[in-house]
Amino acid sequence: MKFRLVSLFSGAGGMDKGFQNAGFKIIWANDFDKDAVNTYKKNLGEHIVLGDITKIPSTQIPNDVDVVIGGFPCQGFSVNNIKRNMEDKRNFLYKELLRIVKDKNPKVFVAENVKGLLSMEKGKVIEMIKSDFEKLGYKVDYKLLLAAEYGVPELRERVIIMGNRIGVDNIFPKATHYTDYKNYSKDTRLLKTPTVEETIGFLANERLRDNEFEINGRIIYDHIASEKVADTFWGRKYPVNQFEICDYLKYWRNKSGWTTTRVDKHFGYKYTAGHWFRKDNGSGSIPKPDDWWELKKILGFDDKFDKVVTTLELKDITFEQSLRISNWDRPSDTITATQPEIHPNKKRRLSVRECAMIQTFPDDFIFTGSLNSKYRQIGNAVPVLMATKIAECVKKMLEE
Ligand SMILES: C[S@@+](CC[C@H](N)C(=O)[O-])C[C@H]1O[C@@H](n2cnc3c(N)ncnc32)[C@H](O)[C@@H]1O
Repeated sequence: MKFRLVSLFSGAGGMDKGFQNAGFKIIWANDFDKDAVNTYKKNLGEHIVLGDITKIPSTQIPNDVDVVIGGFPCQGFSVNNIKRNMEDKRNFLYKELLRIVKDKNPKVFVAENVKGLLSMEKGKVIEMIKSDFEKLGYKVDYKLLLAAEYGVPELRERVIIMGNRIGVDNIFPKATHYTDYKNYSKDTRLLKTPTVEETIGFLANERLRDNEFEINGRIIYDHIASEKVADTFWGRKYPVNQFEICDYLKYWRNKSGWTTTRVDKHFGYKYTAGHWFRKDNGSGSIPKPDDWWELKKILGFDDKFDKVVTTLELKDITFEQSLRISNWDRPSDTITATQPEIHPNKKRRLSVRECAMIQTFPDDFIFTGSLNSKYRQIGNAVPVLMATKIAECVKKMLEE
């Protein structure tokens, strides 16, 4: 008998694909992103409903549910979001997951989120979520998983929250792969996580194109990519030593009697001037040419450094300056929902298919929507392979 599953915030269906692989029957899914829903329908089935979950009553969702899953959105939680705050808690969409778990009373639920959730409000948020589900009678645990430890060629970390009301332990998947290539012991029973090169290297010199094509016996769809790659920038022509410039500027500032605050105020900056007078490799900086000429007007310094500070030339971006250029010989950094990394050939960003491969979507999983929408759907997803391993654990719990 197949276990019946309801999926919330399903997106393109990375997590759902993993549960399907493990033999679950998804009876109902939901997302309010039209492109994601179309992608989902194409690859997983017609059981997905387009709509805002906050407007869908539980009565519209089927009964007899064994499992509810939901990667509730992370915007409010992300460490990148400075506004993250308990005040927002009424807006937290996990409350929708809570509502549906309450109303459908599944045996197990699984939620996925970003790492930042654990540190939010010094851990209070995750504890609040945990206790909310515990009040419904679930035994709840959470764990930070690294996708690369399950064979996904990506250093993506995600928090998995799992709960059950059937009196078993929550089981999280055990690592099967190692990522620290340098420091592993030969007799480890773990396998090596594939590198980016091993995963997508065979596409490196393939032309981008809309239609599918065959290579190495694989049919490749969506080898399309953003070609917005700035590979030059305006940089200083001559070498300059920040310490030397700093001493020089400090001397002239003292001489002129200007304080750093006054300089900032003059420029309309909040803190920038502080960095010009700070001798510190990490945070000291040299004024940009326009700022240099303005500074010269107020501090009245001589011409000693004018040429080296203000002469710019167009330079090539090097790998070291790494505008998030894929590191070829290790697992990828996290594939995000926005513009992906620049491909090592420097002519383009990673293609949609390359991102999908790194996220372990199968080759025949087809995405719909614009280029950016496809990037977003893939970047939002739980890697299919990691989802499959999670799903196998849930199956084990249910079979116990
Ligand atoms: C992190 S993604 C989930 C990705 C998915 N678990 C996967 O593995 O592919 C979150 C999803 O929640 C959807 N979403 C956000 N707010 C929603 C709402 N109010 N109702 C329905 N879906 C919503 C977004 O469109 C997005 O696809």
